[in-house]
Amino acid sequence: MGSLPFSVSDLQTSTSGARSSPTLLCTPLMGTTVDQMLIEMRKAKEIGSDVVEIRLDCLRNFNPRPDLEILIKRSPLPTLVTYRPIWEGGQYEGDETKRQDALRLAMELGADFIDVELEVAHDFNSSIYGKKPENFKVIVSSHNFHNTPSSEAIGNLVARIQATGADIVKIATTALDITDCARIFHIMVHSQIPTIGIVMGERGLISRLLSPKFGGYLTYGALEAGAISAPGQPTAKDLLDLYNFRLIRPDTTVYGIIGKPVGHSKSPLLFNAAFKSVGLNAVYVHYLVDDVKKFFDTYSSPDWAGCSCTIPHKEAALKCMDEIDPIAKKIGAINNIVRRPDGTLTAFNTDYIGAISAIEDGLRGLNGPNPASGSPLAGKLFVVLGAGGAGKSLAYGAAQKGARVVVANRTFERAKELADKVGGQAMTLAEVDNFHPEEGMVLANTTSVGMKPKIDEAPISKQSLKNYCLVFDAIYTPKETRLLREARETGAVIVYGTEMLIRQGFEQYKNFTGLPAPEELFRQLMEKHA
Ligand code: ATR
Repeated sequence: MGSLPFSVSDLQTSTSGARSSPTLLCTPLMGTTVDQMLIEMRKAKEIGSDVVEIRLDCLRNFNPRPDLEILIKRSPLPTLVTYRPIWEGGQYEGDETKRQDALRLAMELGADFIDVELEVAHDFNSSIYGKKPENFKVIVSSHNFHNTPSSEAIGNLVARIQATGADIVKIATTALDITDCARIFHIMVHSQIPTIGIVMGERGLISRLLSPKFGGYLTYGALEAGAISAPGQPTAKDLLDLYNFRLIRPDTTVYGIIGKPVGHSKSPLLFNAAFKSVGLNAVYVHYLVDDVKKFFDTYSSPDWAGCSCTIPHKEAALKCMDEIDPIAKKIGAINNIVRRPDGTLTAFNTDYIGAISAIEDGLRGLNGPNPASGSPLAGKLFVVLGAGGAGKSLAYGAAQKGARVVVANRTFERAKELADKVGGQAMTLAEVDNFHPEEGMVLANTTSVGMKPKIDEAPISKQSLKNYCLVFDAIYTPKETRLLREARETGAVIVYGTEMLIRQGFEQYKNFTGLPAPEELFRQLMEKHA
């Protein structure tokens, strides 16, 4: 299975291509009774869907004529009628003639679309030849629950579907890797007739979200998170509110967060709200990525303009970069990747910038505005607890600002290794309690001690905190750790981990867009959704 790189020319075809009307948002109705479906169709309209898919195979007792009459006539939205047999992933097990009769009846009763499976489409379409009402359309669908075939095989499939006399082609495949979506995008962009391309499964999410970018005729959005009609289906509400579905166009720039897992990330919420607030033609999606190199090789055109990067890819992604910010390189981890207009990738580590700038502002608040333009960290004794990824970020960041760095870690060897790299001193965590060479030191905790659920723990004693003028904790669950609470009680300025989180986001936004971040909006959203 080859995966084609997705190029600019693909996009140009889509912009100048035949399809210009916006992608429809269709909500499948999965109720088991007609009454339930009637409620669901009203909800779908309220949410903002364009079409409802009446899944006849979900109905427990289906009486074709009366039921279809009610469902089609009472629907507040255009209707797509589907009667999916078990052999194509649906629930209908009965007689094939009866099934097709029901679909023909739906057409006669005024359904806007029906969906018929490729397997039987040729005969079905012949049976309704010359009888199709005006504006009525037949979707001929093919579902593959195993994988996403090669571009050539998908091309052949589209040709077979077209040959049945389909008005609309629907191809649903299964994503084994996020790059499988590229082949479906390719087909949608180049297809001569309206095409619905869906890659099912978690790894296929972008095929659904970005359907409007690649000229998809329709995409499916569930009524509720639990009520999906196919694997990986987002809710209609998320499509509309979280991913700004209505604003996505062929020339929309795409950002996202790569990770595994990634679905929990709130970054799409922040970035999409920010883009919308300033009218930026951009979208930010969740990228569930297994193989970072393959991802960057496949989505390589300038429209894939950058991404945030989270666990477990912060180190692997380094190898795919053309340019790396010098401190990020030393830290050995990146979390922000920007694609330059020439296609090259530049990486940053905004975690350390977020943390260091929050600490600097804390110190400025303490000392009053510093008349000298330098960092308030210059010359300070800066104690970093922990020597993992976050420890490295803080140690390098502080050293760059001219602080004298001390690295304290449970495992001394790791402390020593990092301290040597930043030209600092090393000690064990236990030694920090008796370390007070001077007043006014800065403390930054990057160990996981005190993190939920062990919120009663603290990495060092309360007694030792009196030597610090400022204490920062990279932990943000809970927001106020025992360490921060005790530091506050001791009289130190405290800087929350949430501040690092939010500020690293500001930096990413600036790197992506070249614009200042809407800081107040970010803060409000973080507050609301944290
Ligand atoms: P991160 O990338 O978030 O910094 P990490 O690389 O796993 O995560 O590092 C975790 C840090 O927390 C390490 O410094 C670790 O100390 P060790 O190097 O000795 O493992 C520290 N840490 C984790 N649990 C700890 C505990 N119970 N007590 C003290 N330090 C702990």
